[in-house]
Amino acid sequence: MKDLEFTVEYNREIVRGVFEMRLVSSEPLPPIHCGQFMHLKVGGEFLLRRPFCIHKFDEYGITIIVAVVGGGTRRIARIKDGEKVKAVLPIGNGFTLGENHRRILLLGGGVGCAPLTTVAVTYPDREYISYIGFATKSSVMFLSDFEKFGKTVLCTDDGTVGRKGYVTEVLREDIAEIKPDVILTCGSTPMLKAAARLSLETKIPAYMSGETRMGCGVGACLVCACAVREKNGEAVNKRACVDGPVFRLEDVIL
Ligand SMILES: Cc1cc2nc3c(=O)[nH]c(=O)nc-3n(C[C@H](O)[C@H](O)[C@H](O)COP(=O)(O)OP(=O)(O)OC[C@H]3O[C@@H](n4cnc5c(N)ncnc54)[C@H](O)[C@@H]3O)c2cc1C
Ligand code: FES
Repeated sequence: MKDLEFTVEYNREIVRGVFEMRLVSSEPLPPIHCGQFMHLKVGGEFLLRRPFCIHKFDEYGITIIVAVVGGGTRRIARIKDGEKVKAVLPIGNGFTLGENHRRILLLGGGVGCAPLTTVAVTYPDREYISYIGFATKSSVMFLSDFEKFGKTVLCTDDGTVGRKGYVTEVLREDIAEIKPDVILTCGSTPMLKAAARLSLETKIPAYMSGETRMGCGVGACLVCACAVREKNGEAVNKRACVDGPVFRLEDVIL
């Protein structure tokens, strides 16, 4: 984990209210594992950094996706090309695949698709099938990114493009045929709940990347506590920043 200064190569709105920002460092980045995140210094009146998944990475640069939801992300959206920003990275455990996980199903909802595009970079020797869901045609992102590493099924809630319906419901229709070894998912809480039901019914293991509120990002403040069930059934609080953000879906109390 390193605190680095980056130059903003570009910060552009890719769909309404969602920005893609590429940050470049003058020194090589520490090794990054799929599903890890970074903590971006916002500046101004915002003392706490804001966490964002690493959407793409190479030796010197990363790309993040920022949905504007409040004051901090509004400020990030105004960052101009060429500005300097500071970020700590990489943070968290990320997605870990077992040797037996050969056929991987990526299940993403909206901005939650962002961390899933790094999985095939860390594990290039697996087969990928992606189900990605968005509200409507004008909010679709990342389609060509997912298509690069495997079959991709695009869904929209209103059917304006791709298959109509919630991405988890469309996947439910197909899952017996796909027979994935594991599901990796990230998205809204209702989507994760639906994915948890599907995983339980089909007995296909699933791992989710969660987006709890964060403070320090290094395990010291407990702001990011989330309830996770242990093997003995007991619920314990885990720190999403250092114990997660990826957890086994059936263990998380959503
Ligand atoms: C590990 C991790 C990875 C993340 N990756 C991404 C990403 O790739 N892209 C992205 O757009 N966002 C991501 N988020 C969420 C992002 O960090 C928050 O949206 C952001 O911090 C909100 O800052 P703000 O100052 O704009 O909003 P605030 O003013 O702090 O809050 C505005 C609204 O956003 C909600 N909110 C605040 N923090 C979070 C949060 N962590 N998760 C969900 N809702 C929140 C609040 O409840 C409130 O409704 C991630 C969060 C975590 C923990
Ligand atoms: S954000 Fe402080 S302990 Fe996780």
